[in-house]
Amino acid sequence: MIDFTRASIAAMNSLKISRRSAELGTENAFVVLAEVNALLAQGRDIISFCIGQPDFRTPEHVQQAAIDAIRQGKHGYTASAGIPELRRAAARYMGDMRGISIDPDDVVIAAGAKPFIAYTILATTDYGVGDEVIYPNPGFPIYESQIRGHGAVPVPLALRSSRAGSFDPGELAACITPRTRLLILNSPHNPTGAVIDRATLEAVADILRAHPQVWVYADEIYSRLCYGEAFASIASLPGMAERTIIADGASKTWAMTGWRIGFAANHLLAPQFIRWVTNTESCASHISQWAAVAAIEGPQADAVAMHASFQSRRDLIVRLLNQVPGVSCHVPGGAFYAWPDVTEACRLIGAEDSEVFRKRLLHEAGVAVLADIHFGARIPGDGQHIRFSYAASEQAIEAGVARMAQFIERNRRG
Ligand SMILES: Cc1ncc(COP(=O)(O)O)c(C=O)c1O
Repeated sequence: MIDFTRASIAAMNSLKISRRSAELGTENAFVVLAEVNALLAQGRDIISFCIGQPDFRTPEHVQQAAIDAIRQGKHGYTASAGIPELRRAAARYMGDMRGISIDPDDVVIAAGAKPFIAYTILATTDYGVGDEVIYPNPGFPIYESQIRGHGAVPVPLALRSSRAGSFDPGELAACITPRTRLLILNSPHNPTGAVIDRATLEAVADILRAHPQVWVYADEIYSRLCYGEAFASIASLPGMAERTIIADGASKTWAMTGWRIGFAANHLLAPQFIRWVTNTESCASHISQWAAVAAIEGPQADAVAMHASFQSRRDLIVRLLNQVPGVSCHVPGGAFYAWPDVTEACRLIGAEDSEVFRKRLLHEAGVAVLADIHFGARIPGDGQHIRFSYAASEQAIEAGVARMAQFIERNRRG
């Protein structure tokens, strides 16, 4: 450890950290996770529903492809766009799922889908000139943080319980101004689990046709995790492919979060993305790229089994949550998140809001979840919510929800 002298502390006081960095947002899941880890280190028994990643092993044949890549010396830099084999595989895969044809030259590979959020904002807005980006609220917190960090103006689009965690196209139309540059859509959605149905996508496309300057970032990282409503992408609708950045990846479909492979497709922006990759990551992990080729091109039995398991866990958690006093939960159509309304449960135990409820649930009952405020400002009149990631075993789901029910009963007022 550096031993700081008084002189070096004085020198540090003159150094400035940019406002952009000091004010950068974060993913609160990681903040809560640190809280959970501190409790675990004290020997506390915690059941965690915090983290949004599959709890399965990466399929065996995908692991083997990575081992083979290392053994065959495929571990140097690749082109910033990614290896041609993966660009071809991702183009076919994304195109087939959306019923469109995608040219491999329009596909770029990065270290997860997440970097494309930044690259898209960087490639479509200018710093500090009032360019607006519409994003879903509640939503993946990185959207708002990256919009602000890159000097654009965040314009939240409310997702409402009355629409099962999705948005009203009329409200979207009202958000668009001549300064709107980008609309971010996320389906299936984190944190509400909502899947945007085809009729809503068509309404969005109709609205956008009157605003040809608006790009669309279609965050479709959970595209393979739909349980009822079939997955649909706005990119499939007439006139939308040109302006839509399709973002998908390996993390959620093949349990590959730590491998860091995402892919995005757009004809005009691909060359821009490639330059951003060169300027930042150089390239995604060469080894992981070969693993992703095997994931896409190889047998899908593991992905299908994981999907089936998530669907039965969804059914279980929604059924159990709806039996808890003061809790109501709609059936989410996709991803692996449940978004119960806990307004009445908060009232029952005298918690002033969902964040107080979350903290008490963690400290008094040993159940870790996230609160709605971790996904953006609460929507006025829309109640209090918490988020469960049900990427957890059925035993953990049963025990965790039972603990929550007992916690509410124990603390019930009057
Ligand atoms: C909505 C959404 N987009 C993007 C990501 C990032 O995924 P990746 O692991 O591919 O970077 C996540 C991860 O949780 C997510 O929930």
